[in-house]
Amino acid sequence: MRRIIEPFRIKVVEPIRFTEPEEREAVLRAAGFNLFKVPSESVIIDLLTDSGTGAMSAQQWAGVMRGDESYAGSPSFERFEAAVKDITGFRHVIPTHQGRAAERILASTLVKAGDVVPNNTHFDTTRANIEAVGATALDLPCDESRDLFAPGDFKGNIHLEALDRTLHKFQGHVPFAMITVTNNGGGGQPVSMANIREASAICRRHGVPFYLDACRFAENAFFIRTREPGYRETPLLEIAREMFSYADGCTMSAKKDGLVNIGGFLCSNDDALTRQEEELLILTEGFPTYGGLAGRDLEAIAIGLYEALDLPYQEYRASSTSYLGENIVAAGIPVVQPPGGHAIYVDAGSMLPHIPASLYPGQALVIELYREGGIRTVEIGSVMFGKRDTETGAELPARFELVRLAIPRRVYTKSQIDYVVDVFRDLSARRDGIRGVRIVEQPQRLRHFSARFEPV
Ligand code: F0G
Repeated sequence: MRRIIEPFRIKVVEPIRFTEPEEREAVLRAAGFNLFKVPSESVIIDLLTDSGTGAMSAQQWAGVMRGDESYAGSPSFERFEAAVKDITGFRHVIPTHQGRAAERILASTLVKAGDVVPNNTHFDTTRANIEAVGATALDLPCDESRDLFAPGDFKGNIHLEALDRTLHKFQGHVPFAMITVTNNGGGGQPVSMANIREASAICRRHGVPFYLDACRFAENAFFIRTREPGYRETPLLEIAREMFSYADGCTMSAKKDGLVNIGGFLCSNDDALTRQEEELLILTEGFPTYGGLAGRDLEAIAIGLYEALDLPYQEYRASSTSYLGENIVAAGIPVVQPPGGHAIYVDAGSMLPHIPASLYPGQALVIELYREGGIRTVEIGSVMFGKRDTETGAELPARFELVRLAIPRRVYTKSQIDYVVDVFRDLSARRDGIRGVRIVEQPQRLRHFSARFEPV
């Protein structure tokens, strides 16, 4: 077997400024040991997110030049709308500035206080938008997802029996059900076509609309092709079309599989609902032919959605993500299995067993990765999801203490990923000496963005 190589060459480069350990120490202190407060110019490899951080192609930049900035009736909108309709098959397409704007419009039109919205795992903004209207966002991950280290082809699946039970129990109070592909909150694991098809059938039996959170639809299509019987020869575009065919609508952040730096959309087949959504869109996003976007953004999305469905691109994408996962496992680092589509999740809890959850092992690892090698990652553990017990005031830890290494699309080369592996190897050698952290200042909500920490 020949090795899989990057299916692109580089036309424009962006210099990386190398920092020394003393400078990084000063940067960490100034940022209160919170990586969200570190300037990107002080980061060597940025794995904070795969959202809006990708590199656009020459074709997309050509599209940017062609963008028509007319307020109404722009041909850029027509090209955008045609691309989204061609891939998803939905009748109505509403452009939005990013995924959460689509979620807010959907939640504000369909969801009422007291409602329940099931999902395999809600992403934070989806959950927040549902909770903001007084409804409950219910996660129904499949049983196989519970064991972080067990192998499994489709650990992102929704729990079908639990979905059926939920729709029974809350009959009349479920405005829609959703499946997130791939399951970001669940380790970036894919969802099978069979699971989407069956979830859709359950929703139809109950008369409940079924939506996809389609952010990483193309990565999910690639996993279906390689792991699910019957799709080995099917083009990714056809697999994507089949996934969307089971849904009544979707929300999308084009900052992921749209291969752009900003953009999103909301789709449905419901005429009356779309009219209501467009009214809301005009209030905060913009006229229905541009949403919150410029004509040039619409052009770049129209092109990027197809590029994400290019087979050599997805082969490279999946193999470069799993390459990072396999190599840090070889360095003795515990990693959620199998590697996800867009990210590797390190289990800081078992990597640093001497640090209790109350001293945030995930945040300790995030800090050390920056200190050791200028690598920026994000804690997904008790800093992000720890809850305060309303009676005792004590803090309840999250289920897992993870650190996410999200891989921007078409940005880093193999040697840069090898550098990340080197840093992990050096850290691993001194892991017993890594200390936990204490929170010294925090806001009421979403504390991971702005809390300040101090080493103990
Ligand atoms: N749904 C999923 C599954 C996501 O991963 C995200 C964003 C959104 C919705 C919201 O989209 O950012 O365009 O408003 N995820 C990013 C991340 C922020 O880092 O995982 P948005």
